[in-house]
Amino acid sequence: MSAHVVVLTGAGVSADSGLATFRDAGGLWEGHAIEDVATPEGWRRDPALVWRFYQLRRAALAEVQPNAAHQALAQLERRLLAAGHGFTLVTQNVDDLHERAGSRRLLHMHGTLARLACEACGATLEDREHTDPATFLACAGCGHAPLRPDVVWFGEMPRFLDEIFAATSAATHFVAAGTSGVVYPAAGLLALAREAGARTFVNALVAPENLEARDRFLPGPAAQVLPALLRELERELPPPAA
Ligand code: OAD
Repeated sequence: MSAHVVVLTGAGVSADSGLATFRDAGGLWEGHAIEDVATPEGWRRDPALVWRFYQLRRAALAEVQPNAAHQALAQLERRLLAAGHGFTLVTQNVDDLHERAGSRRLLHMHGTLARLACEACGATLEDREHTDPATFLACAGCGHAPLRPDVVWFGEMPRFLDEIFAATSAATHFVAAGTSGVVYPAAGLLALAREAGARTFVNALVAPENLEARDRFLPGPAAQVLPALLRELERELPPPAA
């Protein structure tokens, strides 16, 4: 029988790389109210502020490196797939540390800072280069300006939901790491996995909102906890069907 491991990551997994989480800073995100910088209304009200905010975060990607948690997840993916098991990594993070660590089966449900999007024609492009906070960029296709970061803001639809719900409903093992469990629909995946009969594991510094007694809670920094947990999971998995 083969296993299907689904891992959901949040800001805590990148905290050990030096990126700030959202709620550990008291509801402020790098000094801003989340609704000022992470909503379509905020963008319409003050595009210069929002662009500057994301450009600084896009520039910061070049200053940080994947940590042991990102590396362990990429390694687990390679090993499980090679052994004939299923693996899906779902991230709420908009940084690119999972892909830089080598993860390939990765669903960025809240989008990514590594891409920009045109609100007029819908085009998106990969861009890690143009990070000047004072310079708006125009769409090469239709000329519309300004381009926006290709991230999901509050009030917008998270991505890959059908795929994410299908994978979670089929999970034999579900790990939620570094997420406070308050932003839905991501926060509902743990319950969905439980209902599907998966064994559930939760890592965070403090117990998240959606933790229940039947989840195995592993407190501590993801860069320490995840490599050990993932090694343990890999050892426990059944051999795949011949
Ligand atoms: P939060 O900032 O809400 O939660 C971070 C979680 O990580 C908390 O549970 C901390 O205990 C935990 N944590 C902090 N440092 C850690 C570490 N070193 N190792 C392990 N855990 C650690 O971040 P998210 O849950 O990811 O959405 O936030 C969810 C969404 O809210 C984000 O994707 C974003 C935000 O608004 C959008 O932008 C749409």
